[in-house]
Amino acid sequence: MRRPLVCGNWKLNGSIGKTGQLIDALVSGMTGIDGVDIAVCPVFVHLPLACERAAGTALHIGVQDVSDQAQGAFTGEVGAGMAAEFGARIAILGHSERRARHGETDAGVAAKFIAARGAGLTPILCVGETLAERDAGDTLAVVTRQLDTVLEMTGVAGFGDGVIAYEPVWAIGTGRTATPEQAQEVHAALRGRLAAHDAALGEGARIVYGGSMKGANAGELMAMPDIDGGLIGGASLDADEFLAIARAAVAA
Ligand code: PGA
Repeated sequence: MRRPLVCGNWKLNGSIGKTGQLIDALVSGMTGIDGVDIAVCPVFVHLPLACERAAGTALHIGVQDVSDQAQGAFTGEVGAGMAAEFGARIAILGHSERRARHGETDAGVAAKFIAARGAGLTPILCVGETLAERDAGDTLAVVTRQLDTVLEMTGVAGFGDGVIAYEPVWAIGTGRTATPEQAQEVHAALRGRLAAHDAALGEGARIVYGGSMKGANAGELMAMPDIDGGLIGGASLDADEFLAIARAAVAA
């Protein structure tokens, strides 16, 4: 049985005040929700505050990116070890917004994956097709390429406890969710790909869905056999909505 993961991606949102309030609301609202890993990823400057407020609780804190370098002359970057030192445990990597805006490549994301694992962070590797790629029938080829580049660079042992987030680009922030069947088809293909490298990895790796997930649709998505939780943007900024998704993960 894979333990579900529900992770909030706060993107470029929050402030000192709002971050503190949201963390406090999540920590108190999480009481009694067992059987799911719950995490949120604020912006880097709010990481120390978030870690401090969540210290000693079951709420995990993560980051939305890391450098592929540990330290040195890399202006503007943040090392995975630096985030881990504050208490971060998770790193979202290769989000489509970063691939689109910052030109992140599959190989570059793989290098960040290795850096994150080296610092003890659990990477969440984002994969997903654009609408044009889906319409062209290329969905499985695209996500397989994105995953394979990482697996080839890390090897099975290096992939470790890595999580995959399937996030169709056309579903992110659009209110247009993939149907449970559409998502399941891709999740099953990704799991098959992992299993082709290593049976235990295929069985054990968590594959979460992201793209306009909310309390109202989380249950039907996570009821699918290969959907092990969610990576949630907009709905993660509302404690009640986010915790509804966490409850749905437990029930699924
Ligand atoms: P969304 O974002 O839930 O707002 O669609 C998901 C994501 O980008 O991770």
